[in-house]
Amino acid sequence: MDCRLFLLAVFVISLAYVAAQEQPEITKAILPEIKRKGLTAYLNCTVTRQGTSKVFWSHKQRRLEITQDDQVTVGERFNQVVNGLPKYEIFRLPDGDGWTYQLVVHRLSQIDIGTYICKIQVTGTGETKEKFGKLLVLVPPDIQNGKTTHTLSVPKGGSAKLTCAAEGYPMPNITWFRPNGKAIPGRGYSYNGETLYLEDVTLDNRGMYRCVANNNVRPPATFDATLFIEFAPEATPVQSTYGQATNRQFDLTIECIISGYPPPTLHWYKITEGGGRKAITDDDWHSINTLLSHGNFLSISERWYQLTIRNVRARDLGDYVCEETDLCQGANCPKNVNDINSAKRNVIATSIVFISVTLSCLLYQW
Ligand SMILES: *[C@@H]1O[C@H](CO)[C@@H](O)[C@H](O)[C@H]1NC(C)=O
Ligand SMILES: *[C@@H]1O[C@H](CO)[C@@H](O)[C@H](O)[C@H]1NC(C)=O
Repeated sequence: MDCRLFLLAVFVISLAYVAAQEQPEITKAILPEIKRKGLTAYLNCTVTRQGTSKVFWSHKQRRLEITQDDQVTVGERFNQVVNGLPKYEIFRLPDGDGWTYQLVVHRLSQIDIGTYICKIQVTGTGETKEKFGKLLVLVPPDIQNGKTTHTLSVPKGGSAKLTCAAEGYPMPNITWFRPNGKAIPGRGYSYNGETLYLEDVTLDNRGMYRCVANNNVRPPATFDATLFIEFAPEATPVQSTYGQATNRQFDLTIECIISGYPPPTLHWYKITEGGGRKAITDDDWHSINTLLSHGNFLSISERWYQLTIRNVRARDLGDYVCEETDLCQGANCPKNVNDINSAKRNVIATSIVFISVTLSCLLYQW
């Protein structure tokens, strides 16, 4: 081999070696950070032989240049100050014969998730060196109001779709169950999934359905959806015969329980001697009351109605009718039902109960 050529090769190699020696380097891997929402994350980039080269931190997915050396360079819009604390801080800390550029991210939120790049721009050469660091932000589940079912009305025998949408990181799992301890029709006691479909619903299926969103980041989120089943009213007298003495300044209250959804309208009638019906109005002699809830006695979509006849006289004796008319019109119609259901609801359904008021022995002592 030509001696000169050999010497030249040695010279070139050692030049390259010296050049490499003088190049700045990122010496350590950037450890991933996993922190809960709202807390602070720290990412370290340790550099040796920095010389006059510049060190940058940026967010890869957002293409956001955050720092240059020990200065935060990102705009105010991305670096808001809350309670005197900016979103980003950068610290230059001595580390052996080099420096650690510590990027601090305050008030962690979902937007901060991603890959952070620490980059050295080598002076003079235009060369860059980089290392990546991952940041995960754990976000507890949050139910999304607009996409989650609050209440739903479906006709008896129809099908229902209950949706529970949740956000969080990691993506939460959704579980449905019934707070009353009953089984979910056709699904056992719990069901996993964002959307719960119920087919051929019965009156037993009405009531509350609870969804729980869980991703193991405390606390889980819960939401209650209420399912109403529309059905023709059914009337039940509380007592079908009432005994009463007349002309003794007594008031008499007759009662009727109606179930039906949407809440129907109730009418009271008295059967006349000719067999016809006379509507009873809320007047001096009668008072008509609706007891919407009666402790735990009434189930959802049941109402208790009372008719009080003041100062019962002989002419008040006879048969009374409480009649439910279920007519869906305008504001009475349930919301969120599709047109087919609304059309169905315009059919009048009636349910009639006879209640007799008879003369009975006077048991009172005077
Ligand atoms: C970052 O560097 C600082 C200073 O060297 C050190 O105290 C800290 O523990 C490091 N943090 C991480 C997450 O590596
Ligand atoms: C969701 O449930 C599945 C199956 O039970 C489980 O493997 C997964 O880890 C759960 N995800 C979360 C975020 O809890």
